[in-house]
Amino acid sequence: MKRPIILKGKRVALGPLMKDDLDRCWRWINDKQVTQYLVGFFRVYTREMEEDWIDRALRAKEDLLFAILLLPDLQHIGNVGLHKINWVNRNAELGIIIGEKEYWNQGLGTEATILALDYAFNIMGLKSVYLRVMEYNKRAIRCYEKVGFKHVGRLRSHIFRGGRWWDVLIMDILNEEFNEKHPSAVKAMNLDIFESA
Ligand SMILES: CC(C)(COP(=O)(O)OP(=O)(O)OC[C@H]1O[C@@H](n2cnc3c(N)ncnc32)[C@H](O)[C@@H]1OP(=O)(O)O)[C@@H](O)C(=O)NCCC(=O)NCCS
Repeated sequence: MKRPIILKGKRVALGPLMKDDLDRCWRWINDKQVTQYLVGFFRVYTREMEEDWIDRALRAKEDLLFAILLLPDLQHIGNVGLHKINWVNRNAELGIIIGEKEYWNQGLGTEATILALDYAFNIMGLKSVYLRVMEYNKRAIRCYEKVGFKHVGRLRSHIFRGGRWWDVLIMDILNEEFNEKHPSAVKAMNLDIFESA
C-alpha cells in the first residue's frame, strides 16, 4: 500500500508507520550499535513486544509516531515520535532513531527532528518539547543543538550501562524559539483554510 506523506522536507519526509514496518523496527531495536544510545531501551525485544509497543504507541493519545522516509523513494530509515503528550500543559517528549546506520551524520536526523517539531508546534499547538539524551551521545546532542534545543538539566548517574553510571542530559525547545529559527513546512502548506483565513 502506498504510504501517505504527512510533512515533507528537502531530504526526508514524515509519514505514518505501517504494519510492514514492524520487522524493520524490530531489527533496529535489537541492534546494539543503535540501542547503546537510547535512554529508554536496553534489552532483548521479542517481535511480539515490539508489535505491542508500536500498536500501543499508535493508539495512545499520549503518543504520536512517525516513520522517517528518505526522499524521493520514501525508504523507511527511522522513526521519530512525540511521547508523554500532555494535552493540558501542551508539552511532549521527543524520541528519534535512525535505524539504518549508513544514514547517520548526513543531516537527516536534524531535518526529521525539525519536521516533527513543526508538527508539534504548528499543528498540535504544543508549547514545549523536551528530550533526554545520554551524556556520551555526542552526535545526538549536536543534532539537537543545531535544531535549537537548549540544555536545561542533567540527571546525574541516572543510567547504568556498560558497567558504569552515566548522566542523562535534559534539553528543551519552546514553540516561539522554534518558529523564530525555522521556516515552517506546515505554514507553507497550500491549504484552503489558510487562504480563507
Ligand atoms: C541521533 C540521530 C537521530 C542523529 O541523526 P543524524 O542524521 O545522524 O545527525 P545529523 O547528521 O543531523 O547531526 C549530527 C551532528 O553531530 C556531529 N557529530 C557526529 N559525531 C559526533 C561526535 N562524536 N562528537 C561531536 N559531534 C558529532 C555531526 O558532525 C553533525 O554535526 P554537523 O552537522 O555540525 O557536522 C541518529 O544518529 C541516530 O538515530 N542515532 C542512533 C539512535 C540515537 O542516538 N537516538 C537519539 C537518542 S536521544
